[in-house]
Amino acid sequence: MNSIDRNRLQSLMQREQQRFVDEHPKSKALFERAGKSLLAGVPMNWMRKWAGSFPPFVREAQGAQLFDVDGNRYIDFSLGDTGAMTGHSPYATVKAVEDQLKRGLTVMLPSEDAIFVAEELQKRFGLPYWQFALTATDANRFSIRLARQITGRPKILVFNWCYHGTVDETFITLHSDGSAGARRGNVGPPVDPSVTTKVVEFNDLPALEKALAAGDVACVLAEPAMTNVGIVHPEPGFHSAMRALTRKTGTVLIIDETHTICAGPGGYTRAGKLEPDFLVFGKPIGGGVPGAAYGFTAEVAKRITHRQNLEDCDVGGIGGTLAGNALSLAAMRATLAKVLTQEVFDRMIPLAERWTAGVEKAIKESGLSWHVTRLGCRAEYLFSLRPPKNGSEAHGAMDFELERFMHLYAMNRGILLTPFHNMALMSPATEKEDVDQHTRIFREAVKELAG
Ligand SMILES: Cc1ncc(COP(=O)(O)O)c(C=O)c1O
Repeated sequence: MNSIDRNRLQSLMQREQQRFVDEHPKSKALFERAGKSLLAGVPMNWMRKWAGSFPPFVREAQGAQLFDVDGNRYIDFSLGDTGAMTGHSPYATVKAVEDQLKRGLTVMLPSEDAIFVAEELQKRFGLPYWQFALTATDANRFSIRLARQITGRPKILVFNWCYHGTVDETFITLHSDGSAGARRGNVGPPVDPSVTTKVVEFNDLPALEKALAAGDVACVLAEPAMTNVGIVHPEPGFHSAMRALTRKTGTVLIIDETHTICAGPGGYTRAGKLEPDFLVFGKPIGGGVPGAAYGFTAEVAKRITHRQNLEDCDVGGIGGTLAGNALSLAAMRATLAKVLTQEVFDRMIPLAERWTAGVEKAIKESGLSWHVTRLGCRAEYLFSLRPPKNGSEAHGAMDFELERFMHLYAMNRGILLTPFHNMALMSPATEKEDVDQHTRIFREAVKELAG
């Protein structure tokens, strides 16, 4: 079956919306109350994207489970879009946070935890020097600033349909006529992003070479595999060629591991033997407590230090009063030492393989032209027959209406997928039975779709 009957899809969607409303009366009441004090009834704009007519309001989350105020239980494969990849409230992190709560939360002075975390990150990623931020967005922004400073170049380069957090420069896309401009939905861009940014397709080495040739690009900011438009894997040789091109043109390479940490304890960088100049890691690093880190090579550190100016170091554009705070660092220390360990990945990755195999089989049985991809403990189905080669192909395969149906169908049966695309992440607390339950429900959904 290559095409979906849209009438059938709409009537199934109506049925599912009704079921959702019927089973969430308390969430509905809270949403109505929220509409009087929160814009669109939610604390953060993207929370509107959940597939129900309103989001389920949460009572509590533990491990791989979440309970809403109506008493519905969910297996959580969304895991805070990776922020809770550790499972919700992992014991070791909670214990460290509880201890730190009584010993000062933010002090504007270093503690030994910062050194422990930096040393652990050195071992994992092979980069010697580290700094902290509160979000991966900030860690990306600070890395970009430093890249601009040390190269004296104005532009950055990103891949089409990337996402690196709310970094102004990155909300650019390639239009069908080949020109670059503001990405759809870009809210109030400060300038036309083509002033600050070049954009090429992922896996397109000739385009990358051409874009870097002018010598005006300070840095390439890249996920090692794209994860925010569905998973797009690098083609064999892409990374080594990108590294050679960036080195040849004096361009700094920033690898954003915020999501691709799913590949293992050292992220894709260690698994794929990458050699970035900067590396960014946020979201799950503190087990759900806000925190992020960015690291760089000794050569970069030398170039930064050479330009540092003591008098202005607090107002130079890299900051955050709460960045590097004692609570975040205690959480990061415990999470790295005791939660996101090799043993845990050895458990999570086979679960993602099981998820992939189950969904793949159900797709085959249904005759749908879809496929599944996986990276470490993250798996995702896409509405296209073949894996996409770049962001445009992946974006072209997206289908908002269909996606909402699949998500709502799953949510009504106790499964949460990330609301932005069809991603499932395994946590240390996820069980085989959770995976199989998703497979069963996915199979029912596609059966109903096929009619
Ligand atoms: C690859 C990547 N980098 C950075 C970020 C930004 O993370 P945060 O929203 O925590 O700043 C995201 C968020 O989804 C991301 O996917």
